[in-house]
Amino acid sequence: MDINLDIKPKTTYNTMKRIIAPSVLSADFGNLNRDMEMLERSQAEWVHVDVMDGVFVPNISFGFPLMKPLRKGTTKVLDVHLMITAPEKYVTRFVEAGADYVTFHYEATENIQECIDLIRKAGAKVGISIKPGTEPEVLDKWLTQLDLILVMSVEPGFGGQKFMPSSIAKCEYLNRKKQELGLEEIIIEVDGGISASNSRLLFDAGAEALVAGSSVFGAADPEQAIVDMLNS
Ligand code: DX5
Ligand code: ZN
Repeated sequence: MDINLDIKPKTTYNTMKRIIAPSVLSADFGNLNRDMEMLERSQAEWVHVDVMDGVFVPNISFGFPLMKPLRKGTTKVLDVHLMITAPEKYVTRFVEAGADYVTFHYEATENIQECIDLIRKAGAKVGISIKPGTEPEVLDKWLTQLDLILVMSVEPGFGGQKFMPSSIAKCEYLNRKKQELGLEEIIIEVDGGISASNSRLLFDAGAEALVAGSSVFGAADPEQAIVDMLNS
């Protein structure tokens, strides 16, 4: 039988990234080293750090003291999500504590330009997050200055909530904007209620980083849960 050696495998070019950012909010703080070692071995490229002040959101998580063991315990990208009022007062210290990305909430400050400038000056990448009730158009004027946009797919404050599908259209909008403006390097990240059951939808809508708390740390095999999202 003749074999046609001219047939080459079809190559598809996909420049979109797929990043999983497990949220340490759902880790076991009594066994933090164990959980950090698991993340280190895993295919997650980022570690998501949820800082809550009990004012911007109705819950308090942790702050600077935890940054040290987290930075020490991982070589991965530290993706810090500040759910705090007046973030301009604290962003520099989070960069100094080892954050690679510092993301603050659009709704949390009147001083957006100051926050951006402080994070950039301190040497980290800049993200802005929008709550489920905030339309993505509010970010239009800031896009050229951002490295990351964090679309909340739950009300910020707690892990383990149900995914809100309205986040999908926001990703599509922001992805279109990225293409139109030639800002392909901005990463669209989505946070809240994400698992292998909806990760594909979000990647297809243009998200490149997905935060996952309970679906990773609550899984019987957390490393596999990360792989399942990446392969969805
Ligand atoms: C919610 C936090 C999320 C949360 C995600 O305010 O920003 O990062 O930890 O947890 P899951 O994946 O359980 O919704
Ligand atoms: Zn978060």
